[in-house]
Amino acid sequence: MRIGLIGAGHVGSTLAYLCSEAGDEVLIANRHGPDTLHDLEVELGPKVHAATPGEAARFGDIVVLAVPFEQYRDLPAAELAGKTVVDACNYSRPRDGRFAELEDGRVTSSELVQWELPGAHVVKAFNAMRWDHLRSYGHSAGANRRYGIPVSADDQDAKWRVFDLVEQLGFEPVDAGGLADGGRKHQPGTTVYTADLWADDLRDRIGVD
Ligand SMILES: NC(=O)c1ccc[n+]([C@@H]2O[C@H](COP(=O)([O-])OP(=O)(O)OC[C@H]3O[C@@H](n4cnc5c(N)ncnc54)[C@H](OP(=O)(O)O)[C@@H]3O)[C@@H](O)[C@H]2O)c1
Repeated sequence: MRIGLIGAGHVGSTLAYLCSEAGDEVLIANRHGPDTLHDLEVELGPKVHAATPGEAARFGDIVVLAVPFEQYRDLPAAELAGKTVVDACNYSRPRDGRFAELEDGRVTSSELVQWELPGAHVVKAFNAMRWDHLRSYGHSAGANRRYGIPVSADDQDAKWRVFDLVEQLGFEPVDAGGLADGGRKHQPGTTVYTADLWADDLRDRIGVD
């Protein structure tokens, strides 16, 4: 699979590592430009290349957003049209500034991302586990049990594609619902957020089968 990563910090570089280990081709981008990602390219090997955000967006069958949430207004929307876009971002007021509609619960952060990227199929995933746990908590497919990753989306095909990616990286996808109802179940402040739950326990906790 071809994976585009926008954001090359803790989460972006972790997903680049996991995807390349799983055999995917990865283009990864940050804000300061591909030249600043040379060391990361060397560290992660031949399947990972640095790019601009637009190039990563064009390249990916799946494109992951791993940037500070408030940067969602500064993404390559045209290149992301038609793509399955994974939103791994979380709203944090001290970092992102105040978004009243998020604080009073009117919308979820992933709905705002979807509205900003009307041509993309946004899927919220990989937001609820710490990056260092994401890096090392995956289990192979035959394992007795695996950690659950909650996944929310309004587009069912895009959701299935991200289910496959989650499984490929060693986790069990748990369908939390749509971006509004489901996204609300795995945002910061919920009982599943960074709780590192086995998939069955995660299903119980968010109330899905
Ligand atoms: N840290 C965690 O454990 C964790 C877990 C799950 C979800 N999250 C969420 O995932 C997101 C990323 O977190 P992180 O810890 O990986 O952050 P981070 O280490 O600070 O990395 C942020 C990355 O985003 C890049 N970036 C910022 N604005 C950009 C833009 N407009 N276009 C392209 N790249 C841009 C930065 O590039 P430069 O370095 O060039 O500025 C940097 O590579 C956040 O929303 C966070 O809440 C974090």
